Amino acid sequence: MRKVTFFMLFILSFQFSIAGNKLKPIYKDSTVKIERRIKDLVSKMNLDEKIKQISQYPFYVDPYKNNVIDVVRKILPEIGSVIYCSADPLLRNEIQKNAVEKSRLGIPILFGYDVIHGFRTVYPISLAQACSWNPDLVSKACAMSARESRLSGIDWVFSPMIDVARDPRWGRVAEGYGEDPYTNAVFGVASVKGYQGKKLSDPYSVATCLKHYVGYGESEGGRDYHYTDISRQSLWETYMVPYEACVKAGAATLMSAFNDISGIPATANYYTLTEVLKKRWKHDGFVISDWNAIEQLVNQGVAANRKEAGYKAFTSGVEMDMNDNVYIENLPQLIAEKKVSMNQLNEAVSRVLRVKFRLGLFEHPYTTIVKESDRYVLPESKSIARQLARESMVLLKNENGTLPLKTSMAKIALIGPLVKDKIDIQGSWAGHAREVDVESIYEGFQHILGNEVTINFAPGCDFEGYDQSGFAEALSVAQQSDIVVVCLGEKRAWTGENASRSSIALPAIQEQLVQELKKTGKPIVLVLSNGRPLELMRLEPIADAIVEMWQPGIAGGSALAEILSGKVNPSGKLAMTFPLTTGQIPVYYNMRQSARPTEGKYQDISTEPLYPFGFGLSYTTFNYGKLKLSGTVLNKTQKLSAEIEVENDGKMDGTETVFWYISDPSCTITRPLKELKHFEKKEIAPGQKAIYHFEIDPLRDLSYINASGDKILESGDYFIIVNNQKVKFEIKD
Ligand code: NOJ
Repeated sequence: MRKVTFFMLFILSFQFSIAGNKLKPIYKDSTVKIERRIKDLVSKMNLDEKIKQISQYPFYVDPYKNNVIDVVRKILPEIGSVIYCSADPLLRNEIQKNAVEKSRLGIPILFGYDVIHGFRTVYPISLAQACSWNPDLVSKACAMSARESRLSGIDWVFSPMIDVARDPRWGRVAEGYGEDPYTNAVFGVASVKGYQGKKLSDPYSVATCLKHYVGYGESEGGRDYHYTDISRQSLWETYMVPYEACVKAGAATLMSAFNDISGIPATANYYTLTEVLKKRWKHDGFVISDWNAIEQLVNQGVAANRKEAGYKAFTSGVEMDMNDNVYIENLPQLIAEKKVSMNQLNEAVSRVLRVKFRLGLFEHPYTTIVKESDRYVLPESKSIARQLARESMVLLKNENGTLPLKTSMAKIALIGPLVKDKIDIQGSWAGHAREVDVESIYEGFQHILGNEVTINFAPGCDFEGYDQSGFAEALSVAQQSDIVVVCLGEKRAWTGENASRSSIALPAIQEQLVQELKKTGKPIVLVLSNGRPLELMRLEPIADAIVEMWQPGIAGGSALAEILSGKVNPSGKLAMTFPLTTGQIPVYYNMRQSARPTEGKYQDISTEPLYPFGFGLSYTTFNYGKLKLSGTVLNKTQKLSAEIEVENDGKMDGTETVFWYISDPSCTITRPLKELKHFEKKEIAPGQKAIYHFEIDPLRDLSYINASGDKILESGDYFIIVNNQKVKFEIKD
C-alpha cells in the first residue's frame, strides 16, 4: 500500500507542475516545452474530446439580438475551432469562456476567418497588390490586418491564397498573386511574415492558412470547383512552388483544395498532404479541409459515402474538418473498426494543439477589448491602403500624353456606374468593410482635385443590362467638359469564389457607353475597376488612355485622382497577362516554346496578348543601359553578378521595377520560354540613374524541378533576360 502511494506521487509529479501554491496540469504550465504540454494534454483527452478538437463549426451572428446567447450556447465547448463571422470580441470571449470554463479540460477554441485583403481596413485585392511589386508594403498591410483581426477575436486567417492562376475566367484570380509561381511565392512569404509577425504568441500576430493546397487555379475552363489535370511536372514546377516557400517561411496551417488533381482530389491526396507536406517539408502544423471538401469527395467519385470520404481525407492528412461534421459523425466507428488508429488520431489532435499553444491561446484565451476607434482603420492602415492603391494601379495606355491631366483640362467629366460606388469597388471578400470608410472615385477627385477643377458627373449606365436611358445625360456632361474619365468595371460578385465567367469582356452596355462618348470628340480616359484581367479588344482602340485601378480598397478614389493628375506617377506593372480575347486563354508569359515558333498562330487574331505580364507605363521614360555580367562561363557553385543601369530620362520622378528572367534553351526537360527569378523596384529622379542587381545562385536560380520534386542543375547555355536584352552565359560541369 505504501509502495502504491509513492508510485502515485511519482506519477503525479510528472503530470502536474507546481505553480504558485496550486497543482496545475503540465499542459497548463507555460514554462514547460510545447511538445511536452501537447503530450500531456492528449494523454488526458477522451475519444470524444479528441474528435471534437479536430472539427470546426461556423458561427454567424444572429440578427435577433435576443437570440445571441442561445447561439453561443449551441457552440460545443469542446469544439476545436470556429469560423467566426462576427467582429464582436465580447461575443467571442463569451464563446471562449464556455470552452475554457465549461469543458472538462478547458482547451481554448481557435477562431478563424477569411481575411483576404484586409479585415475592416480593406486594401487592394491581392491580384492588384502583386502589381505593386512591393512585398514589404504588402507585409505591412497584412500586419495591420492581423492587428484588426486579433482585436476582433480572430486568431487565424484563411490567407494568403497562393494559387498560381492562368485562366482569368476563374473568379478567384482576384484572391491570389497572379500567373507566376515565383511572384506568388514572394508575396505569399511577405504576407505570412506580415500576419504571423515575429512570433505567433505576440498579441497582434495571427496564424496563417495557405490555400488552396494545391492546384486549384488550374480548374478546367476556369469553372470553379472543377477538375484539374496537372502532371507531376507542372505540380512541382508551378503549383507547389509558392507552398514550399511559405511552408519554409513558417506558415502555421494549410487548407486542402476543392479540386480533383488528375484523379486524386486534393482533399484525399496522400502524396501532396502527407508525403510532400509532412514528410518532405516537415510541416508540423495542421491541414484543414475547405468548406464541405470532405463530403464533396463523394461528388468527385472517390468515396461512396460520407464515412468513406472521412476515412480518405483523414488518412491522407487532413487533420481538421471544416463544417462537414464528417469526422464527428464517423471517426468513432472508423476507430472502432481499426481503420483509423488511435495514434493517427493523436497525431492529428497534437498538430491542432501545437498551433494553439504556439499562439499562446492557453495563456491568453480572451481577446483584449479596446474601443472601436483604436481597433479599426487607424491612420497607419489608411496610409498603407492609400500607398498600396497608388502602387498597384497600372497605366496601360497613354496616347499622345493624354495623362497626366493638363491644367487646361479644367472641367472633368466623371462618367460611369463606378464613379460613386462604394461597394463593388471593394472587391470580393470584404466581409467587415463599412461603406463609411470607403472613398468613392468621386470623393477622391473632390478630395484631391476639388479646388483645382470642376467635376461633372453622370452614371451613364448600370454595370450590365440593356438600359441606355442614361446615355443622353452622360453625353451632355461630356460635351460640357474638357476631358472624359469613364469608370467601368466589374461588380464585386463577378470575382471571388463561385464567380467564373465565360467571357472576360465587360458587358456590352458598358462598351456601348464608351463608343457613344467617343463621338463627342473629347479625349477619353478609361478607368477600370475589376478583379480579373479583362478583354479590352474593342475598348482599347477608342480610349486615349487606360488606367487599371483594380478593386483598390478604401483609399482608391484619392489614389486614382493622384495618378490621373500626375501628383503620383504610376508604377504598377501587371502580375497577370491581359489576353486580347477570351479565346486566347490560356495565355501567360511563361508558356513553353512551340515546336514551330513562327507558325501555329491564330488565323483570325493576333496570337500576342494585349498586355503581357510585367507591362505598365509611367509618365516618365526609363532608359536601360547595357546588361553586364561578372562572367560568362562559370561552374555550378559559382555565383554570377548581373547589373544594369537605368536612367530616368524623362521629366518626372518615377519608380521602375526591373524584372530579371532566366531562360534555359536546351535542357533534359523542356523549360518555359523565360522564368522570373528576381525583381527590384527603385525610385529614380529625373536625370538620375540607378543600378539594379541580381546575384545569380546557380542552384537556386538556374536549376529546375523534375516530376519528383528534385532540383536538377544542368550544364550548358543559359540566358539572362532584362527588358529587351538577352545575354548568354554558360555553366560548366
Ligand atoms: C471556401 C473557400 O474556398 C475558402 O477560400 C474559404 O477560406 C472557406 N470557404 C471558408 O470561408
